[in-house]
Amino acid sequence: MSWQFNAENENKFQDLLKRYPKKNSLALPALWMIQYQDGWICEDAMKFLAKKLDTSPMDIYSVASFYTMFHLQPIGKYNIQVCKTLSCKLRGSEDIKKHIENRLGIKAGESTKDMKFTITEVECLGSCGTAPCVCINEDYIQNTTPQMIDEILDGLK
Ligand code: FES
Repeated sequence: MSWQFNAENENKFQDLLKRYPKKNSLALPALWMIQYQDGWICEDAMKFLAKKLDTSPMDIYSVASFYTMFHLQPIGKYNIQVCKTLSCKLRGSEDIKKHIENRLGIKAGESTKDMKFTITEVECLGSCGTAPCVCINEDYIQNTTPQMIDEILDGLK
């Protein structure tokens, strides 16, 4: 096992450890630290965390794999998340998704070869009133149109 927190995250982890009565309650914030450090959560990192929290790698995996915001494989620099839930579906999210797929030459669930973009279909982003909604990393695009997508992608290239 070679994965480790960087110095900043190790300090944060030690600080948080003092605030949680049960070590394994730290699983979620520690998984976020891992993901912010590497962009995704590899198997070695899960084993590392399990050891730190005195639990099994399977416990950590069960938490990490439950939440779709955790990435268990490398993703592109820009994760384009297209909502596929009802309000967005009714307001054209399928067309938006197809437009993005055509622009980038990949399908949802795939990344571009240069690992710049990943397209992910997600459940409700909590912005149903401004459907269709797309989220790029942590930035929301609301009432999304193909033209808006074109402008954003042009700006990111
Ligand atoms: S249904 Fe798409 S944001 Fe809620």
